[in-house]
Amino acid sequence: MKVAFITLLSLVATSSLVQAGPIAAFDQLRVFRQTEPERRLIQYGEDTPPKWMKQTDIDNLFRAGVKFMDITDHQDLGSYSAYQRAWEPVIPTKVSYQDEVAPFIGNLTTDTMKSNLEKFTNFRTRYYKSSYGAKSCRWLIEQIQAVVDEANRGDLVSVKEFKHSWDQFSIVARFEGSDQDLKDELVIVGAHQDSVNLWLPYFGRSPGADDDGSGTVTILETFRSLVTNGFKPERPVEFHWYSGEEAGLLGSQDVAAQYLNDGKKVVAMLQNDMTGYVGTNNEVIGIVTDHVDEKLTDFLKSLVDNYASIPYTSTKCGYACSDHASWRKAGFPSAFTIESAFDDSNHYIHTSDDTIDKLSFDHMLEFAKVASGFAVELSHKQ
Ligand code: BES
Ligand code: ZN
Repeated sequence: MKVAFITLLSLVATSSLVQAGPIAAFDQLRVFRQTEPERRLIQYGEDTPPKWMKQTDIDNLFRAGVKFMDITDHQDLGSYSAYQRAWEPVIPTKVSYQDEVAPFIGNLTTDTMKSNLEKFTNFRTRYYKSSYGAKSCRWLIEQIQAVVDEANRGDLVSVKEFKHSWDQFSIVARFEGSDQDLKDELVIVGAHQDSVNLWLPYFGRSPGADDDGSGTVTILETFRSLVTNGFKPERPVEFHWYSGEEAGLLGSQDVAAQYLNDGKKVVAMLQNDMTGYVGTNNEVIGIVTDHVDEKLTDFLKSLVDNYASIPYTSTKCGYACSDHASWRKAGFPSAFTIESAFDDSNHYIHTSDDTIDKLSFDHMLEFAKVASGFAVELSHKQ
């Protein structure tokens, strides 16, 4: 229907141009010629040189399971890390604030995660460039803002859109810090809000319940508990919900580049991508050990030992597996928790079968406990 209408329009336009003269008509016809497809700069590994690729080739790369970062807009994100080394954050080796963390953990519930995830997965897809994805981010920011409004904590926490060159924005919710000496530093807890159907990105059904609806509601629940219990950190703590992760970590690279530019110093970043699927082996928290900060990852292990009710298992996820990689590339310590050992993780992701019925909310709650410990412990000066 739309195609027929456009064809009719172009016929009308062309015939009036023919009347205007042969050169004008030729000029008009040029728009029908195939234009050279846009190429994007794609990186597959820390030390492999990036390649300029067409979208169709990038789609095939994704379907083949190759992990990549689309660095077109931030080609020099990695070149600042040397400058970053002039500032070295001190990462603790053991937990020190159990009494402060306990009430936040005590207030976590599976109920809010469940009702939020049911609604979040009702969007046809959350693909970052689709009209559905533009709606899902609006719904999400309303839920985050409602947490702050209902607890009457607008004085402590701000909720902001972080806009990109596409319609789905990322979201930043920020607790201000009480110590003025630490005002340029921050701790980040993140997840990605977009989803993708790998066969039909724009229209294909993509509930993305596990990837990464689970991480989204896990950190939202952590945030809710901190807000309603009046969390007042010494250094600022931010919760981030990124757009465009599935297209090569686009949203998180935009945010990381902006923060570098603004002179912000990220003490620690924790990514929660896929927290809902228990797997076939024993219930565990997967701690990713490749392409992460070693000291922060060691501290993450002690957070699991102290605050979760299940053990951790060390696992690997590969290069550019999720948004923590953008922060690492920018020169900041980042770490990553996942639902299981990588090989035992949910195989339905990126399809219409990534649905809630395969997930456990009790499992997600374990990740919310760890994220609560992370936010509180690292928000202290020492
Ligand atoms: N959630 C996945 C990564 C993942 C997979 C974590 C399995 C834990 C277990 C993430 O959203 C993803 O799909 N990443 C892409 C790379 C992306 C940057 C193009 C991938 O893994 O292919
Ligand atoms: Zn994914």
